[in-house]
Amino acid sequence: MGAGIAEVLARGGLAVVGIEVNQDALERGRGHLENSTGRAVKRGRLTEDAQREILGRVALSTDFADLGDCDLVIEAVPERLDLKRKVFAELDRVCRDDAVLATNTSSLPVTDIAVSTGRPTKIVGVHFFNPAPVMKLVEVIATVLTEPDAVTRVADLVRSLGKTPVTIGDRAGFVANRLLFGYLNQAASMLESGHATRDDIDTAMKTGAGLPMGPFTLMDLIGLDTCLEVLDAIYAESRDRRHAASPLLRELVTAGLLGRKSGRGFYTYDKSAAESAAEAAAGPAPVVGVVGVGPLADAIAALCDRAGAELRDSAAGLAGCELIIEAAEDAEAGRALLSAAAQAAAPDAVLAVTSADGPVIGQAMATGRPAGTVGLHLPDPAGTLAEVAATVATAPEAADRAADLLGRLGLTVVRCRDRAGFIVDALRFPYLNDAAAMLGAGYADADSIDAAMTLGCGYPTGPIADLDRLGLDRAVTVLNALHTETRDPALAPVPLLTEHVTAARPLR
Ligand SMILES: NC(=O)c1ccc[n+]([C@@H]2O[C@H](COP(=O)([O-])OP(=O)(O)OC[C@H]3O[C@@H](n4cnc5c(N)ncnc54)[C@H](O)[C@@H]3O)[C@@H](O)[C@H]2O)c1
Repeated sequence: MGAGIAEVLARGGLAVVGIEVNQDALERGRGHLENSTGRAVKRGRLTEDAQREILGRVALSTDFADLGDCDLVIEAVPERLDLKRKVFAELDRVCRDDAVLATNTSSLPVTDIAVSTGRPTKIVGVHFFNPAPVMKLVEVIATVLTEPDAVTRVADLVRSLGKTPVTIGDRAGFVANRLLFGYLNQAASMLESGHATRDDIDTAMKTGAGLPMGPFTLMDLIGLDTCLEVLDAIYAESRDRRHAASPLLRELVTAGLLGRKSGRGFYTYDKSAAESAAEAAAGPAPVVGVVGVGPLADAIAALCDRAGAELRDSAAGLAGCELIIEAAEDAEAGRALLSAAAQAAAPDAVLAVTSADGPVIGQAMATGRPAGTVGLHLPDPAGTLAEVAATVATAPEAADRAADLLGRLGLTVVRCRDRAGFIVDALRFPYLNDAAAMLGAGYADADSIDAAMTLGCGYPTGPIADLDRLGLDRAVTVLNALHTETRDPALAPVPLLTEHVTAARPLR
């Protein structure tokens, strides 16, 4: 991170002094700088002259005294409070009295570092994201002791470097990590509970929620040890179950399975293993029955049209359908419609419930043929992901058949147990609820929260925008279903959401 931050500053035209512990580490840092700027030259994004100028602005040293003239010092040593305090004591000694001292910590309280110096008013957090030269977000953290001028100067500097500063108070995880890690940890718990497989959860969040990668791919990339450290640090402050690290994550770390860097984490990274391509469902497009009218029924009609599948929606036509999808607008209507359709359906037809807010087992029982009934959820009706839930009464062959038939409609199918929210909604709405909680608590404003997730984590859209787009009433419905099922207080919709639903006003 130190080399990346030095590069950002030097690219911004500033003179930089880079300090390392010894000559070897200094050479490693120089290598990072040369490689990173060298890649930019190769890609035609930087001229060789500009690279030379950038490198010429960075003086490398192992002597802290060389920081004596700096206006700002950014610390990026390993994430240990004792080490950071030692480094800040040294900085306090060698730096000018008016110099601002900043820490790039991801999860340690900035205040704990500030109070160990003789200049707590001049201590700020500047949290760059990895890789620093690429990621646009910088969280600027002010403690209760930081003087406003120091914060403004750092935020202005960040802006002048072409980055977006988000200025916030000193809470563990700040904005981005606090929101991201609650979600990642929940995904680990979901895997541990056997709700769905690693691959299905990753696929669901990529394909169904539009994220750049699934949670297990991301945790392996970050490093499971880092994930655990960040979660422990956030939990120490929040005491929120969402941040209580999943035992599975802790076990993997203890076993030395740290993700990509150690060759194995949630996935195994074996260069010799051939990439196994997902098998596309083979076979003719099925004959599909739809009962109910509304947007979902329309979306299924469009889907059948694209796949060249025959769609039937009359009672007489249902007898020849391989898959009958209930697409009613509410659960009561859905129950009645599917029960009636079950009478007309062929014995081996699969029935799919879509209208239940929580688990689908009640509706499956009402059909009189629960062994042939599954839950179905299309997180984005215009998208390509189908989530199939098997209840305890679903025959395994019926779940397999549902997955096969939906695959033959051109959908990517993931499977899970019969729990509220399937996979995508069960993971995304609690994360969105956390973001609404942060907004409601006044910790950060809507723009800052959205910027943190888009610019810091590469999400296509921010959580506040997501809530308004997906619908606050839907968020409250899903969260209530999750809360009813688990009784986990962290899953109950926060007051800001219910208040906006009652007032029929979006968050923005
Ligand atoms: N890696 C990330 O993705 C990431 C992202 C944001 C913030 N951070 C934070 O940035 C900081 C550094 O993380 P990293 O991943 O770059 O760690 P790292 O271990 O890769 O690098 C730390 C560097 O600090 C040097 N160092 C150790 N003691 C020193 C001392 N006394 N004086 C000068 N240099 C010293 C080490 O030689 C090493 O080169 C941590 O606080 C971390 O939480 C990391």
